[in-house]
Parts: sequence; structure tokens; C-alpha cells
Amino acid sequence: MAVIADRCPEIEVTVVDLNQARIDAWNDADLSRLPVYEPGLDAVVGRARGRNLQFSTAVEESIAAADMVFISVNTPTKTKGLGAGQASDLRWVEACARTVAEAATGHTIVVEKSTLPVRTAAAIQTILEAAQRDDRGRSFTVLSNPEFLAEGTAIGDLEAPDRVLIGGDDAGSIDALAQIYGNWVPAERILRTNLWSSELSKLTANAFLAQRISSINSIAAFCEATGADVREVARAIGTDSRIGPKFLQAGPGFGGSCFQKDILNLVYLCRHFGLPEVADYWESVVALNTWQQHRISRLVVEKLFGTVTGKRLAVLGFAFKADTNDTREAPAIRICRDLLEEGAQLAIHDPKVSSTQIARDLQIEASPHTDALSGTGNWAMADTIEQAVVGADAVLILTEWTHYRSLNWQALGDLMRRPAWVFDARAVADPQQVKASGLNLWRVGDGEG
Ligand SMILES: NC(=O)c1ccc[n+]([C@@H]2O[C@H](COP(=O)([O-])OP(=O)(O)OC[C@H]3O[C@@H](n4cnc5c(N)ncnc54)[C@H](O)[C@@H]3O)[C@@H](O)[C@H]2O)c1
Repeated sequence: MAVIADRCPEIEVTVVDLNQARIDAWNDADLSRLPVYEPGLDAVVGRARGRNLQFSTAVEESIAAADMVFISVNTPTKTKGLGAGQASDLRWVEACARTVAEAATGHTIVVEKSTLPVRTAAAIQTILEAAQRDDRGRSFTVLSNPEFLAEGTAIGDLEAPDRVLIGGDDAGSIDALAQIYGNWVPAERILRTNLWSSELSKLTANAFLAQRISSINSIAAFCEATGADVREVARAIGTDSRIGPKFLQAGPGFGGSCFQKDILNLVYLCRHFGLPEVADYWESVVALNTWQQHRISRLVVEKLFGTVTGKRLAVLGFAFKADTNDTREAPAIRICRDLLEEGAQLAIHDPKVSSTQIARDLQIEASPHTDALSGTGNWAMADTIEQAVVGADAVLILTEWTHYRSLNWQALGDLMRRPAWVFDARAVADPQQVKASGLNLWRVGDGEG
């Protein structure tokens, strides 16, 4: 929405949320304190906020004034009831549809921006049609406009999208939305489909992307077993124009709020529509991802003489990927939980993630300081990499922050207890430098390591 406001100064954009603290943070005068860390977002918000971009909790008033409403609320995996663990929880989307049905005036175009199961638009339409039958002379159309941005590169993705997808059956409404994007997106990149294809395309895109990560991670494990190097294999297959070079980096598996949730949702829908084989196929992508994370924690324990109980381990990176402060489904969560379960003391460093967030993810309060770590199964936030590493038996690199690519392994190695290990789950450290410092090295997908 900030990018739309930035690119279309003549359009008034109001972002509303029920969460007062979040809205306050979006209105913070200090742009470095916006609730989402995303490179370039502060500049975009800085240009548009107060001009044609407002952040507010006045939900009903803003809907009443709007010609177009984007529903962009969370759609997490259901935790209980029918479809628990797989289906998307649509309670927030339904609540929004009901609020729009109540508060809208005149003709309103309702845009599904959240990622939704196929045929959700039908439910939204039914709620809005019921509202249309009252005597207030209102009317609604529903469009699907899924968001393909990736966290960490969101601003670039939005400013120069590969494509914008608009699904719907009302040509006038589709044109109205296409016109907004047309302010900066070339017409040939604005794709039009029916509602159901649009909804399904988003789930399919995420399923294909996640599948590539699981595929390369399965080959990484095979490389480790056979003496091959997954980076060489990735280069060799990625130069095949039919395969392409992207999304072939082996690592600790995918994270983020979307991939797992969207695949499980697809799995649930396939079972629902009587396609169990298709469901099993996609479910295995998630199973492989979970396995990869447990595999990494298991091999850390194995290399450290079969026990990490009471041992200090430094964890570099907690965000699910670089350039974001998002930790939802981060591989670090599962790996750290496994190691805490094994009794390790973890000193965790991340340039953007707060210790409050990590405590929530690990469901264990932080110790006050890395110096105070003692006993088993506890963790503390390290303000610096040196603080994380001092006295550690191993360093685990779990997020590919740029800074972790150029660490001085000689100096860090001197702070560690020997024999010491580096477990590089992102393959970002220079292997020669690590080995020259007398440290043992495990790199994902490296059969020579
Ligand atoms: N994060 C991503 O990179 C990304 C990318 C593409 C698509 N999506 C999809 O976008 C949707 C939102 O994702 P997110 O990461 O921004 O989620 P989020 O949980 O960070 O944000 C959702 C916001 O909606 C607010 N909200 C909930 N119910 C509301 C209501 N009835 N009225 C007003 N506000 C309400 C919440 O307070 C919260 O601030 C999801 O469907 C997700 O799958 C996310």
C-alpha cells in the first residue's frame, strides 16, 4: 500500500489495522522504528506518509470513504477444529468481509490481497451480496489480487514486479485495479484471469518455489554422503535454461509465514477435492524441509562427541532469511529448540531480531546476558558476534546476513573452546579461512567438508 501511495500521489491510501500499537509504530516519527524491517521501506513511507498515505485504526470510517478495499489480514494455518494443522484460518478474512458489508457506502471493489484458499472469493461474495439486499443502495464486486513480493526484497519486487495478477469476472472492476498498477507496471505484466485461477496461482507459485528448496536440500544431503558439492551441482543444473539458476541455494530449509502455510493449505484442498496422491506429493515438500532442520541439529550433536549438554553454542542469525526481522517459521526456531532440548546453552546473535521475539519463538525466557549462561537448555541474546562466540564449542550460521560472509575466523577462533566447529548451514563463510584458523567445518551440501 505504501508503494501504491508512493507511485500514485493522486490516490488516497489509508492503511487500517485493529492493532493500535502497530498503527502507532507505523506513525512513528522515527522511520527506523517501523514495525517491519524491509530495505527501502522507510524511504517509501517517508515520502508518502502524511501526503496521501495514512495509518489509522478508524476501520469503519475508512471503509465508508473507500472506493476500493484491500483485505490483507493474516491467514495462518488453523490450530484446531476441521483441517487443523493444514487448512487456513479464515476468521479474520470473514470478519473483514462482514465489516466491509456493514460499513461500505456506494459501490465498493473488494480486493483479496491476503493469500486465500481457492473459492474463498465465493464466501466473501455471499456475505457482500447479503448486504447488497438491504435498502442502502450499495453494491460490491470481488477481485483476487495475490501478492508475490518476497520479504527482504519487497520494495524492488513491488516497484518492478515480474507480473501483477488480477482475477475476477467484472471487467470494469478489473480495469479499475489494473489502472492503479498501470501507473508504474507495464501493461503486458498485468495478467487477468478468472477468480479461481488467481487464487490458485498464488498457492501454486509458493508450492513450486518451496519445492525447489526441498529438492536442492535433498541433493545437499546426498552430496554430503557421496563427496559431491551441492554448489557445483546447482551451477551445473542451473545453467540449463529449462531449470534456471534461482532458488537452488541449499540451506537449513525454507521459513517465513507463507511457504509452509500455503503448501499445507494446498494439501488440505487436494484431499478435500478427492486427490490424495496430489496431496501426498506436495506434503512431502514440507516433510523434507522439517527433516532438513532436524538433520542439522542432529549432526551438530553428533560432531560434538554425541552431546551438547551444558555446552556453549553460538547461533548467528535467527531471522528466516537475511534483510528481514521476520522469524515466522524460521529454520533457527526448530534447530535451536532441538539443541535446547539436548541441553545446550545458546548465545544468539541477529542484527534485526529482538530478544523478546526470540523468547516468544523458543518459548523460553532469555537469560539476562551471555556471561550469565550456565546449566543446561537456556539461551541469551548476544549484542555482538564476539560476545556470542566467546567460550563456544561451535558456531552455527543460520541466516545469510551479509556481515556473516566476511567474519575474521582467526580472531573468532581464538575466542572459542577447542576443538571447535563451524556449522555453516548457509555456506556463507569462506571455507579456506575457517579451516586455516584450525576450526572444523561442516558446510551444507559439501561432501568434502
Ligand atoms: N508477509 C509476506 O511476505 C506475504 C507475501 C505475500 C502474501 N502474504 C499474505 O498476506 C496476508 C497478510 O500477511 P502478513 O505477513 O502481512 O500478516 P501479519 O499478521 O503481519 O499482518 C496482518 C495484520 O492484520 C491485522 N488484522 C487482523 N484482523 C483484522 C481486522 N478484522 N481488521 C483490521 N485489521 C486486522 C492484524 O492486526 C495484523 O496487523 C497473509 O494472507 C499472507 O499469506 C504475505
